[in-house]
Amino acid sequence: ADIPVLTIDGPTASGKGTLSACVADRLGYHTLDSGSLYRVTALAARRAGVAATDEAGLAAIARSMALRFEGVRVLLAGEDVSDDLRDEAVGTMASQISAWPAVRAALFDLQCGFRQLPGLVADGRDMGTVIFPDARLKIFLTATAAARAERRLNQLISKGIPASLEDLRADLEARDERDRTRATAPLKPAEDALLLDNSQLGIEASMQQVVVWWNARQ
Ligand code: C5P
Repeated sequence: ADIPVLTIDGPTASGKGTLSACVADRLGYHTLDSGSLYRVTALAARRAGVAATDEAGLAAIARSMALRFEGVRVLLAGEDVSDDLRDEAVGTMASQISAWPAVRAALFDLQCGFRQLPGLVADGRDMGTVIFPDARLKIFLTATAAARAERRLNQLISKGIPASLEDLRADLEARDERDRTRATAPLKPAEDALLLDNSQLGIEASMQQVVVWWNARQ
């Protein structure tokens, strides 16, 4: 099926989610926030008492959880868990369980299913390398660790959650390291990905750049 896909991969807090949502809105496309699938698997596992070390148990959860997507909201067994998915603890467990090949395999078909007309903007770590290798445009979004930690801090502050810049930076560097060094679907740019460093770019300028690249591929 030649349903167009645009992928945006990159490290934690690089602004993939925001950029994907803006680009999808502009193109009138669907979105896939693949990180939310690892997060909801982590949440469902925690609730079921399945440990982050239990690869087969986690994969069984990933295959059997009752998910529904309503716009940007994620429903697990009918309950809107979108806010719970943003917890740091859930993010950390998501990062740990995403290293298991059986978990990644269990989420493969679900992710491919998001490819629907008129098109898809997919963000994550392996969208361009593993899930949609035939994507029409692949972006690898980066920003310095300092810029990413600062953004994460501002997000938390705006929600009234206290946090330390040093802790946030240490946490995102640990998460990146895990994502980059795992054997299955490590975080790395696809060979045909275009690199975009948004350390100094606002969301509007980043979106403009992506749209220019996208239009050049039509
Ligand atoms: O992007 P987000 O922070 O929501 O992703 C949560 C975790 O899920 C990441 O730390 C990463 O380890 C994992 N992930 C992944 N592959 C993806 C998306 C996310 O391994 N495509």
